[in-house]
Amino acid sequence: MRPLAETHTPRHIVRKEMNRSVPMIGRLNHVAIAVPDLEAAAAQYRDALGANVGAPQDEPDHGVTVIFIELPNTKIELLYPLGDDSPINGFLEKNPSGGIHHVCYEVDDIIAARDQMVASGLRVLGNGEPKIGAHGKPVIFLHPKDMNGTLTELEQV
Ligand code: CO
Repeated sequence: MRPLAETHTPRHIVRKEMNRSVPMIGRLNHVAIAVPDLEAAAAQYRDALGANVGAPQDEPDHGVTVIFIELPNTKIELLYPLGDDSPINGFLEKNPSGGIHHVCYEVDDIIAARDQMVASGLRVLGNGEPKIGAHGKPVIFLHPKDMNGTLTELEQV
């Protein structure tokens, strides 16, 4: 009887995964949608889609009024301008019927994630330091031009 060992590829040779030291993004925390009529959008999600729609919250530091919609696997954040210098005003001028404004990924350590992403050539908006976001947790935003045209928020959880 011939030994089989030499005819089979040794299974203990396993290719090592690359970049294990890079801080990974985690769950999709929310998708933010800028809307021209907050009441109408909330009613649509509640009544037509049957979603669990929260109450409006003013976020003066961010120039928005937000409504959170809880889905089983993530959240939708409806954004409406608050104040004349709201960052949402320009977006709604370009997108009068509303549109996806940003996506938000969770990270364990926002400073480590930021430093890695900046080292990879991504730009952080503002002064680069985390701000406290609408959920009361530190957030940063990555420049949409570096992120396939998508404004990208990172939130430390
Ligand atoms: Co957000």
